[in-house]
Amino acid sequence: MESNKIRQAFLDFFESKGHVIVPSAPMVVKGDPTLMFTNAGMNQFKDIFLGNAPRKYPRAADTQKCLRVSGKHNDLEEVGHDTYHHTMFEMLGNWSYGDYFKKEAIEWAWELLHDVYKLPAERMYATVFEGSEEDGVPFDQEAYDYWKQFLPEDHIIRGNKHDNFWEMGETGPCGPCSEIHFDLRDEAEIALKPGREMVNMSHPQVNEIWNLVFMQFNRKANGSLEELPARNVDTGMGFERLCMILQGKKSYYDTDVFQPSI
Ligand code: GLY
Repeated sequence: MESNKIRQAFLDFFESKGHVIVPSAPMVVKGDPTLMFTNAGMNQFKDIFLGNAPRKYPRAADTQKCLRVSGKHNDLEEVGHDTYHHTMFEMLGNWSYGDYFKKEAIEWAWELLHDVYKLPAERMYATVFEGSEEDGVPFDQEAYDYWKQFLPEDHIIRGNKHDNFWEMGETGPCGPCSEIHFDLRDEAEIALKPGREMVNMSHPQVNEIWNLVFMQFNRKANGSLEELPARNVDTGMGFERLCMILQGKKSYYDTDVFQPSI
């Protein structure tokens, strides 16, 4: 599938689920001293999540141009050393502003990946937050149970705060997250070591493709968490990673996103 069709299929899918398709925000952030460059699709919606601005619609989706070269999400040292990091990339995202929550976020992610893009279930893994005593946030049993509808339990992995609690920066909206990882390795390699053991091990062919964030807290400057006024959904899928998988390539640079320029 060509990259333009992959992007369009994402937007069409979420439009069919009642989402308003919105444009990418500029990559240079204006009016937020906590952030220099847009590092995630949710940045432009920060004030809505915090309750400082009214929502214009309950659901939205877009493809956001992101730059991860400084601050909490910084990929600069990885670029040029591997096949799957960029400084600038596109993040496909869908948002609920106090509307749907974990059930729909997980069910629609599965429907899109498995039924629309036709990714095989046996190569997909989902991670869920194991909980944090320090922050007073429990194990995400709810997300775990929704994933059980689609994946066997040995494909659902508990992850720690580093991998499964997403934060925009040192302060701001945040929450437990559930990531979807895909195992692109050859059958022979999979037979030697199951994908389950490769998730979050920085293997170039066992990658996170989509992060579903259940945005329900605000991290304050003193490090404490306060509940947001509503429970939101913020998802981010790496467009170039998705293209790599759907085009059967082992590197971003071999996809039709880059090959014409190269
Ligand atoms: N906001 C979701 C992500 O960047 O992974």
